[in-house]
Amino acid sequence: MAKILVTGGCGFIGSHTLVDLIENGFQVISIDNNSRSSAYSLQGIAEITGTQVKNYTIDLKNYDETRAVFQENPDITGVIHFAAYKAVGESVAEPILYYENNLFGLINLIKCVEEFNVPDFVFSSSCTVYGNPDEIPVTENTPTKKAESPYGATKQMGEEILRDFSKKATSSVILLRYFNPVGAHPSALIGELPIGRPQNLVPAITQTAIGKLPKMMVYGNDYPTRDGSCIRDYIHVCDIAHAHTLAIQYLAAKKNKTHCEVFNLGTGDGVTVLEAIHTFEEVSGVALNYEIGPRRPGDVIAIYANNNLAVQELGWEIHYDLKAMMKTAWAWEQRIFQAEQQAKNN
Ligand code: WQD
Repeated sequence: MAKILVTGGCGFIGSHTLVDLIENGFQVISIDNNSRSSAYSLQGIAEITGTQVKNYTIDLKNYDETRAVFQENPDITGVIHFAAYKAVGESVAEPILYYENNLFGLINLIKCVEEFNVPDFVFSSSCTVYGNPDEIPVTENTPTKKAESPYGATKQMGEEILRDFSKKATSSVILLRYFNPVGAHPSALIGELPIGRPQNLVPAITQTAIGKLPKMMVYGNDYPTRDGSCIRDYIHVCDIAHAHTLAIQYLAAKKNKTHCEVFNLGTGDGVTVLEAIHTFEEVSGVALNYEIGPRRPGDVIAIYANNNLAVQELGWEIHYDLKAMMKTAWAWEQRIFQAEQQAKNN
C-alpha cells in the first residue's frame, strides 16, 4: 500500500487531505509541530475515517528530526507539503520569520526526499503568485508578478526551488496553486481553526455570525468591480483535498509529461466579498453585522482561475458550490462554539 507523508497534516487543508487519502486507500503519516494547528484535528480524522493517523510533532527546520522520520518510514512513496506559515499580514510584519520557516522547512524536506529517493512530491502553492493579474481568469501560463507580501514571495521561491530540484532529481513534482480554500468537512468534525482574530474572510464571517466577533469589516467597496468589493475564487476545502489525491495518483501512474507541472485549483467563478456575505446570510438565516471600511493593503482587486488543466489532466471535478461552502463553514463554527461552551460548563 502506498504511504504518503503529509506535512502540516493537523492544519486546515492538510487534515482534509489526510481524510481524502485514507478514503482512497492510502497509508498516511503526518509531520506537524502544531505551532499553528491543533492535534485536535487528528481526533476528527479518526472519527471520520476510523484511522488514527501517526503525527510526528517535529519542526521541519530541524533537519536531523526530519531525516529521522524518513529513516523510520523507508516506504514513503510520496510527500504532500503543506506545513508553512500563511498569514499575509503577519508576513509583512515578520518577513524573516516567514522566509526562515517556509524556506528552511522546504529545503530540509527536499534533501530528505532526495536522499531517500521518494518519487512523488506535491507542493501547496497559491494564486498569490500571480499578484494583481492583468488578465482574468488566470491560467497556469499567466505570468507571475512580484509578490504582494513575503508570504507570497515564499510561495514563488518555493516553486522555483522545486523546479530546479526536479530538473536533476529522480522525483517528479506537482505545484498546486490554490485560490481561496473555504468551508469544512460535511461531518463538521474537522475545519479551519484560525489562531486569534481571523485574517481570512469566511472565518471572519462565521465568527461574527456566532457572536465571537461583534462585527466584521468589508475592506473596501470602491474597487472597479460590479459591486465595488474585491473578487476572489472561493473553493471548498474538500475539493482542494481531493485534488491532492488525484495529483499523487497521477504521478504514481507516471502520467506526468514533465518533471514539474503546475495546476490551478479554483472553481473558475469570481465572487465579490459582498456576494459571499449575502450568500452566507441566505444559507444561515443570520443577518451579518458588517461595516464598509478602508481597503486592506496588499489586496488584489480581482482574481479567479481557469481550471481547465486540472479538470482535463487530473480528472478533477468541483462538487461544492458557494452555498455548500458557507453551509459547511457555518456548521463547523457552530460545532466549535458548542464544544467551547461545554468545556466552560464542565
Ligand atoms: C479575501 C477577500 C479581503 C477578511 C489569502 C492568501 C491566499 C490564501 C487565502 C493561504 C479580500 C476581504 C477579508 C475580512 C474582508 N492563503 N476580507 N474582511 O487575501 O484573498 O488570500 O488567504 O492559503 O494565498 O493570499 O484571502 O480571505 O484574507 O480575503 O473584507 O475580515 O475578503 O479584503 O478582498 P486573500 P482573505
